[in-house]
Amino acid sequence: MKTGLVGWRGMVGSVLLDRMRAEGDFATMTPTFFTTSQTGQPAPAEAGAGATLQDATDLDALAAMDVIISCQGGDYTKAVHGPLRARGWDGYWIDAASALRMSDDAVIVLDPVNSDVIDRALNSRVRDFIGGNCTVSLMMMALGGLLREGLVEWMSVMSYQAASGGGARHMRELVAQMGALHNLVAEDLANPASSIIDIDRKLTDGMRGNALPCEAWPVPLAGSLIPWIDTDVGGGQSREEWKGQAETNKILGRSDNPIPVDGTCVRIGAMRCHSQALTIKLTRDVPLAELEQMVANGNQWVSFVENDRDISTERLTPTAVTGTLDVAIGRMRKLSIGPEYLNAFTVGDQLLWGAAEPLRRMLGILSGR
Ligand code: HSE
Repeated sequence: MKTGLVGWRGMVGSVLLDRMRAEGDFATMTPTFFTTSQTGQPAPAEAGAGATLQDATDLDALAAMDVIISCQGGDYTKAVHGPLRARGWDGYWIDAASALRMSDDAVIVLDPVNSDVIDRALNSRVRDFIGGNCTVSLMMMALGGLLREGLVEWMSVMSYQAASGGGARHMRELVAQMGALHNLVAEDLANPASSIIDIDRKLTDGMRGNALPCEAWPVPLAGSLIPWIDTDVGGGQSREEWKGQAETNKILGRSDNPIPVDGTCVRIGAMRCHSQALTIKLTRDVPLAELEQMVANGNQWVSFVENDRDISTERLTPTAVTGTLDVAIGRMRKLSIGPEYLNAFTVGDQLLWGAAEPLRRMLGILSGR
């Protein structure tokens, strides 16, 4: 398969490339590396000796591909995808950006959860396969077992989302803010006799003043949080919150009979793991042990965490999960509200299963891996 890669140098793109190299994916394709700014420069070794970067806006070069996989962003997708289709290109378009995600002609890919939907789409000649929103994909990876059993009547999802969802710049600024906070009180911290109330006041003054860099984030994230992610879709809901229901049901192929999903999406000072607290209304009362089994067996990446204080503290955190393909889920218990109300907490790497991994797996499905 002639495979064109666009946006492979950015954060999601470089995670994708690392994963493709680690899994030997390049052995089953002929890659062409495209660029929006460095046409003619040497391409990565996978493209072959002497290969150069091709112009990502050259429709003729793009149309020569069987598959194009883009992590270049929504503006690129909007500029190129339509014209490419308009000239009759019917190759496969795999995309990390949200631009085409809700299009009727596109399927959202998360094959451990919706391989049936993907298979049906391939059979009916769908050509656009789009990665889901990271929060939604991670939640569905964790809950695949319950969703498959039809046990979710509705869900409230409260998210604790990492800086990486904003982008590389946002991650850097979060760390810079952490350093700036420490600098404000480093001397006081070194002095055991200093007052914690004074330390706190200095930090607060710094955060409310202009002691922290805030170019990527509108307000300090380090030492605080931001209870709004993405744009305002009206009715008091953020776009990130809106995606919960829209994308979950599109992924499941049941947009005409949607499972209600809603909640509050919050940015916190983690680097690249999104966490989510879930309240699930079950369609029927099932014993907790059975629910735990279903969740644990949902797919091979689910890392089931026993609802124990020490184990949860050790294993159910961004620190424990980051950089791995594990999607941890734990804190499972029936809520005191009633036997059909299930509590759970899940943590997953936003750049792996939240972004790059579903795309490289779609490439694998197309090349028969
Ligand atoms: N919208 C997500 C976030 C990242 O801001 O965390 C993209 O899926």
